[in-house]
Amino acid sequence: MHIYKPEEMIPTTVGSSLSTAVKLLQQGEVVAIPTETVYGLAANAYNEAAVRRIYAIKNRPLFNPLIVHVSGIGQAAACTQGLPHKAIQLFNKFSPGPLTLLLPKNNNVPDIVTAGLPDVAIRIPGHALTLGLLQELNFPLAAPSANPFGYISPTTATHVHQMLGGKIKYILDGGACNAGIESTIVGFRNDEVLLFREGAIPVSLIEKLVGPVKRIHTAKPSAPGMLASHYQPHTPLYLVDDVEAAFSEEPALRTGIITYNELAKGLPSADQVLLCTNNDFATAARKLYAAMHTMDARGYDRILVRRFPDTGIGVAMNDRLERAAWKGVG
Ligand code: TXA
Ligand code: MG
Repeated sequence: MHIYKPEEMIPTTVGSSLSTAVKLLQQGEVVAIPTETVYGLAANAYNEAAVRRIYAIKNRPLFNPLIVHVSGIGQAAACTQGLPHKAIQLFNKFSPGPLTLLLPKNNNVPDIVTAGLPDVAIRIPGHALTLGLLQELNFPLAAPSANPFGYISPTTATHVHQMLGGKIKYILDGGACNAGIESTIVGFRNDEVLLFREGAIPVSLIEKLVGPVKRIHTAKPSAPGMLASHYQPHTPLYLVDDVEAAFSEEPALRTGIITYNELAKGLPSADQVLLCTNNDFATAARKLYAAMHTMDARGYDRILVRRFPDTGIGVAMNDRLERAAWKGVG
């Protein structure tokens, strides 16, 4: 048996061939796949050795469970001990789409996928190419975001190639991700609905369907996407209300600026990325991670980002940016 060593470099192909992806996944390989939120690093969820390679390639701690991507409610049922009524309501309303549900797993799902937890995270991705891929496979796909652990998530095949080229054989290119922010993660306790991660579906929409959703605040986060530091560029990033004021505190620093609606006043536009105009925050979310990748590659001393209003998808963008922000430690 071939034992995978992270230091080995392998040629990475970027393409849109379903049959290549199918063949590699059937062989137990890890393949990057597009979804509507971010690119995922996928392997056969029923194959423990294949799933182990995802953790190794991402350098992800083994206590961080993965999301299992399925083709529909039928395949979700094959991974779980049954779906509560509210789970069916939520899947029917929001799937395929950026919603992940935590459900009691059954023995088809190896413990490595859930890091030993009793619940498995299940999602039906809203991306035609990947749904087509899932329909051709007779197993679901475990897939975390396709970035090294703790770094910015990828929203294009190029991002994946920049971060994981040489470590995987194939990146299935499905274009730029349409939502751009990871899925909203929800779990159930008795009749209560619990929020594990803010995401592309605003909680207010979920509450309209199933009633109040309880935010979980735990000292020990049960979702590592909830870790205080995550989604981080190498350049120190600051999330601020007033970009101009933050800039003028240290004008000598070479600064990249990410804003929405209008450029920061009096500062060079060449150092700025404008995510959207007219409060079009769906567009801002689609472009946010790409802007962070771009700014990080430019070698600035710091990146300043204008904080979004805490409504709709602004909540999830602020959540990611707070975790991406520099915490003052090495
Ligand atoms: O949009 C998404 O959700 C993307 C695409 C690729 O589907 N995936 C994604 O995966 O964001 P990842 O691994 O980067 O984040 C998944 C989060 C992690 O924070 C993990 O801890 C949490 O889901 N998670 C998975 N299973 C869990 C479980 N059983 N209990 C609590 N949290 C869980
Ligand atoms: Mg991630």
